[in-house]
Amino acid sequence: MTGKRSSRISGFYRMPIEDRVKVIAEKTDLSPEEVGLLRSGGGMSLEAADRMIENVLGSIAYPFSVAVNFRINGEDYFVPMAGEEPSVVAAASNMARLMREGEGIRTSSTDPVMIGQIQVLDVPDMSEAVRSLQEAESKLLKIANEQDPILVKFGGGAKGLELRQIDTDAGPMLICHLLVDCRDAMGANAVNTMCEALSPIVADLTGGRTLLRIISNLADYRLARAECVVKKEDMGGEEKVDDVVAAWAFADADPYRAATHNKGIMNGVVAVALAFAQDHRALEAGAHAYAARTGRYRSLSRWSKNGKGDLVGFLEMPMAVGLVGGATRSHPMARLALKILGVSKATELAEVMAAVGLAQNLGALRALTQEGIQHGHMRLHARNLVVMAGAEGDVIEEAVRLLVESGEIRFDRAQEIVRRLKG
Ligand code: MEV
Repeated sequence: MTGKRSSRISGFYRMPIEDRVKVIAEKTDLSPEEVGLLRSGGGMSLEAADRMIENVLGSIAYPFSVAVNFRINGEDYFVPMAGEEPSVVAAASNMARLMREGEGIRTSSTDPVMIGQIQVLDVPDMSEAVRSLQEAESKLLKIANEQDPILVKFGGGAKGLELRQIDTDAGPMLICHLLVDCRDAMGANAVNTMCEALSPIVADLTGGRTLLRIISNLADYRLARAECVVKKEDMGGEEKVDDVVAAWAFADADPYRAATHNKGIMNGVVAVALAFAQDHRALEAGAHAYAARTGRYRSLSRWSKNGKGDLVGFLEMPMAVGLVGGATRSHPMARLALKILGVSKATELAEVMAAVGLAQNLGALRALTQEGIQHGHMRLHARNLVVMAGAEGDVIEEAVRLLVESGEIRFDRAQEIVRRLKG
């Protein structure tokens, strides 16, 4: 949390990289070593990479940025984001600016509870099995918690059991859910260890055979929420607000559109996840499964108009992220991301990610309902072309303007324009 510092920086994207680094270093108290890490272009030694995964040959770098203008629950944040897609960071920063009014984006989250699943087959008597497990619940939780005394010490640990009977192509099964409060860990290791430890006891108690023992990525007890209001004037009028609501309604009603709409939300969520070396596949899996929880794949967000004609946005989604036990503490860039964002709890990171997802969603809907998505993309494309054509300094913006106005965003036109401007 950046406390007293404002994250509102006008024209941040126009500054040279050196100036951007200077501003963020000052505002987030980065040490000279940390600034050096930013300049090093990735920060991972071959040895560290080799410790992280197998068969390492090298490492691949993504651009590492910060989104500016985020105000969440009255606090200002610079939000680290990484990724390969242009426009994502710009859209998040722009929409965060429109959402800054008052306390800014309001967020909340549940306790960081994950579900571990134990699959039980060949149960001779389902009701009897359920009864035995229910009776043994406190003993089972105690054994689960003995697997991770540190988690328990920090207030987390196994908190409950849920039993589900399901019919499958391979016959009826009893599915035992272990609910684990993972505190600041993502929790996969803790949950899987607990499930494996309980498995023989569950088999014994049910008279069945246990098979899979694994965390569920449908983390629907570990939710993050974000809400915002954007003034109709900032949207370009009440009609534009109505258009965003109609665009949302399309996504909520049609899975073909919902997949793309939710992809836009994940553009923001995954970009933050990458900057923090989080398990973004787990986040994707959880998000899409949650979007289908009603039996139909729908929008993760909701957009509506309030009595004043302003736009109201809401996003709720599973957000299984951790600050301890994963790569966030071992990857030097992820550690730096943590310093820049300034959060100390996994739930706080999860809430910031929900806020970014909501802003990203609005960025896409606003562009789609107004000038169309290609407009911004083409500007960025034009920028790349003029830089490739040799534009520098002040010439860049003028060349981009002329190239976009020409309606022919091609390299040969960029070369012509840059040649002319350079005289
Ligand atoms: C592109 O990466 C994301 C969008 O397609 C999202 C959307 O359509 O809502 C623009």
